[in-house]
Amino acid sequence: MRRFQTQTWAVAALTALCGVTAITPEGMLAANRYSDALPNPSGDFALFTATNYSFETGEASTVWNRLDLESGDISVWYAGDDISEIVFVGSKPTSLLYINGTNEEEDGGISIYFADAESIEGATLIASLPAPYSGLKAVLTSDGNIRFLVYSLAYPNGTAYNEALATEPASSARIYSQIYVRHWDAYRTERLNAVFGGTLKNNNGSYSFDGQLTNYVTGIHNVTYAESPLDLNGADDYDLSPDGSKVAFLTKDVNLPLANFTSSQIYLVDFEGTASDAVPINPRDPNGPYPDAQGASSAPKFSPSSEQIAYFQMNGIYYESDRTILYVASTDAADFNVTRLAGDWDRSPDTAKWASDSSTIYVSAPDLGRERIFPIPLSADDSYVPKNITDEGVAAGFYVLPNSNILVSDSKIWTSRDIYTVTPTGEVDTIYFQANKVDPELAGLSPEDVSEFYYKSNTSEIEQQAWIVYPAGFDESKTYPLAFITHGGPQGAHFNSWSTRWNFKVWADQGYVVIAPNPTASSGWGQNLTDAIQGQWGSYPYWDVVHAWQYVNDTLKYVDTAKGIHAGASFGGYMSNWIQGHEMGRWFQAIVTHDGSTSTLNQWASEELWFMEHDFHGVFNESSLSPGSPYYDWNPILYVDNWQTPHFVVHNDLDFRLPVSEGILLFNLLQVKGVPSKFLNFPDENHWVLNRENSRVWHEEIFKWINYYSGISNATNV
Ligand SMILES: *[C@@H]1O[C@H](CO)[C@@H](O)[C@H](O)[C@H]1NC(C)=O
Ligand SMILES: *[C@@H]1O[C@H](CO)[C@@H](O)[C@H](O)[C@H]1NC(C)=O
Ligand SMILES: *[C@@H]1O[C@H](CO)[C@@H](O)[C@H](O)[C@H]1NC(C)=O
Ligand SMILES: *[C@@H]1O[C@H](CO)[C@@H](O)[C@H](O)[C@H]1NC(C)=O
Ligand SMILES: *[C@@H]1O[C@H](CO)[C@@H](O)[C@H](O)[C@H]1NC(C)=O
Ligand SMILES: *[C@@H]1O[C@H](CO)[C@@H](O)[C@H](O)[C@H]1NC(C)=O
Ligand SMILES: *[C@@H]1O[C@H](CO)[C@@H](O)[C@H](O)[C@H]1NC(C)=O
Ligand SMILES: *[C@@H]1O[C@H](CO)[C@@H](O)[C@H](O)[C@H]1NC(C)=O
Ligand SMILES: *[C@@H]1O[C@H](CO)[C@@H](O)[C@H](O)[C@H]1NC(C)=O
Ligand SMILES: *[C@@H]1O[C@H](CO)[C@@H](O)[C@H](O)[C@H]1NC(C)=O
Ligand SMILES: *[C@@H]1O[C@H](CO)[C@@H](O)[C@H](O)[C@H]1NC(C)=O
Ligand SMILES: *[C@@H]1O[C@H](CO)[C@@H](O)[C@H](O)[C@H]1NC(C)=O
Repeated sequence: MRRFQTQTWAVAALTALCGVTAITPEGMLAANRYSDALPNPSGDFALFTATNYSFETGEASTVWNRLDLESGDISVWYAGDDISEIVFVGSKPTSLLYINGTNEEEDGGISIYFADAESIEGATLIASLPAPYSGLKAVLTSDGNIRFLVYSLAYPNGTAYNEALATEPASSARIYSQIYVRHWDAYRTERLNAVFGGTLKNNNGSYSFDGQLTNYVTGIHNVTYAESPLDLNGADDYDLSPDGSKVAFLTKDVNLPLANFTSSQIYLVDFEGTASDAVPINPRDPNGPYPDAQGASSAPKFSPSSEQIAYFQMNGIYYESDRTILYVASTDAADFNVTRLAGDWDRSPDTAKWASDSSTIYVSAPDLGRERIFPIPLSADDSYVPKNITDEGVAAGFYVLPNSNILVSDSKIWTSRDIYTVTPTGEVDTIYFQANKVDPELAGLSPEDVSEFYYKSNTSEIEQQAWIVYPAGFDESKTYPLAFITHGGPQGAHFNSWSTRWNFKVWADQGYVVIAPNPTASSGWGQNLTDAIQGQWGSYPYWDVVHAWQYVNDTLKYVDTAKGIHAGASFGGYMSNWIQGHEMGRWFQAIVTHDGSTSTLNQWASEELWFMEHDFHGVFNESSLSPGSPYYDWNPILYVDNWQTPHFVVHNDLDFRLPVSEGILLFNLLQVKGVPSKFLNFPDENHWVLNRENSRVWHEEIFKWINYYSGISNATNV
């Protein structure tokens, strides 16, 4: 293993590592946020972005760094946020295309430049596209031209939509005749995403563009219209074959209503074809090779030879958290020859990268609180059990290098970005970058800040896991108030990863021991634990957090459970509300609900209705209002008379997943009952708080509240 110590900007930060420092909300929000490291085709270097923020100027600042994969040197390659995406393509391993998020016409479109990484100053403008396209993929074809894909919203007639050029209708009316009126933070319109392809003609070393783009998606329809990428998704939903001959994209099943099914298919079309030539590789087919494969497809990825394509698919037709299974298909439309790999593996891989010789597919999958990388050979049968080649952290991106090593960019609870290589058999080769050793705001953070334990509950055969995160200067002989945080989803997990929204270390450094359990519904411990949540919202996961809390109370002497607080967002906010009405609510001094559910009878005011249909055993009807129905039984508001613990409520206007009325309902009832409570609302935020200035207030207000009730602070301004 090689380790490089010479990181150009590390010197100042390293001197700060000795003292006890704590990470503050401002520090976490101002600190660099990193992209993954994108290697060039020869594996000589990689590029990655770092974006920091100044609370003085209110501005973010972005640089592209160049990481030399031989020497480990990191230097600034380009300073500025006008390069939004890079794709290495062209005759040299340093040739690239980039997207500039603006163009000279300033008409709301973008421009594409050709450049050599060795002299970015010499970049030449090749194309100005009249819409805000993104998601660039590009390959060099045998005739020397470059074929590329991008995506944008498109009108039903297939023309790309440019908001800056569109004329507003006189009325703002929105009219719908089928459900799925809005999603996440936007109302649906007739404009849907589409993948477009174009060709850059080679003129003796430079390139030109004739302006012709082919829309491969718009026009495919039956009950609904095809959309690719799916509205919140991006470039992972489509791919261009390395030889430039074929395009693959996924769309929701056009034969099913949109809102209550997750089924989607991968379509294949010749680059020179059009939407009417596109055919699904994996149509739902009771007579096909895998009749159970009815659910959501994801991540189509062509093999280096262009002869095969890998993708994932779930079985459940309206279950968004079913197990994902890896499939490989031929790209010959005469016989797609779909084959399942490691079909019995009890994990849900989500990203696939081919080895250069097409013999192996590397996937990443949630695994025991980490997102680990696993090689799967093409010869794997259903019983094959992949072995992980990485350990800690959550991979944000990984690439197979020409020397067969894998370049991994990941994060951990103690570092916002690590960049390293690992061999195909799992030996760490070179550690290039560790943000906690470089960024002043993260100074002092280390693996010693984090631990975990497994506890027994009465809901699952397997033991369940919980993270422990210690405050700065932790001393086992002292006691610390408890911050107990339940995750959202509920199908999801608390991972060993960096978060700018729920950063456990920032919470711990207020003076808490953070306990973050992974109860029933958590992903990464096998599908049974995930599936067991169905119809059990207020029972299994509640009993699990009770058992996790009991373990802490019985075992961790340095935790002062009498000074505990509970916090959670989304399903975690539901759990806050459920806890408030039950015995566990009396074990906490304060409770925080961020964008939670207050009355499960309101769940059909949400958007992804397949979720309620799955988790609450069917479509809402009269019997949902009676005992025996999960809608009724697990409704937090049933226990309103028990509410008495001080409660901080956050709910945002643009949250269409759980509408803001849920938070207002909660706050109104707390107030009339005389329970100490406070309501924080952001009119411009959705289910998440993304704006750094808003996030700073979010942290300040929540911490003031919990620090007062946990006894950390006597500040009375709560
Ligand atoms: C943010 O990054 C820019 C560009 O690298 C740098 O000049 C600036 O000093 C950084 N700001 C802070 C507050 O670290
Ligand atoms: C991006 O485009 C703008 C407007 O055309 C131009 O001023 C700027 O120099 C471009 N930047 C890069 C890196 O191409
Ligand atoms: C497609 O529809 C949009 C919006 O009505 C319109 O502006 C555009 O000109 C149309 N494109 C074509 C090719 O007709
Ligand atoms: C192509 O470019 C090379 C050098 O860049 C030049 O020698 C050659 O004449 C050019 N060929 C044509 C057809 O323009
Ligand atoms: C369109 O969907 C209906 C079911 O709603 C189905 O019977 C029909 O075969 C579909 N048509 C095509 C072309 O797939
Ligand atoms: C899905 O939605 C349709 C209406 O769009 C509805 O009739 C149906 O009951 C829903 N659920 C299922 C499982 O089909
Ligand atoms: C189908 O794919 C499998 C697995 O990749 C392969 O072994 C088999 O030869 C293929 N069959 C055809 C007809 O190509
Ligand atoms: C694979 O995961 C296990 C935990 O399940 C871990 O102990 C091991 O170190 C990991 N292997 C590699 C090669 O990182
Ligand atoms: C999951 O549950 C099923 C049904 O109870 C059981 O047969 C199976 O063994 C369980 N799988 C694992 C990995 O525990
Ligand atoms: C599981 O434990 C919880 C918490 O102690 C308890 O309320 C519940 O009744 C138990 N359930 C079963 C089935 O034993
Ligand atoms: C927590 O532990 C203390 C003693 O360590 C005990 O007195 C108390 O009853 C426990 N609390 C609960 C709710 O079990
Ligand atoms: C809060 O006030 C109490 C009573 O005056 C005192 O004992 C305690 O040390 C104070 N706590 C803090 C954190 O200031």
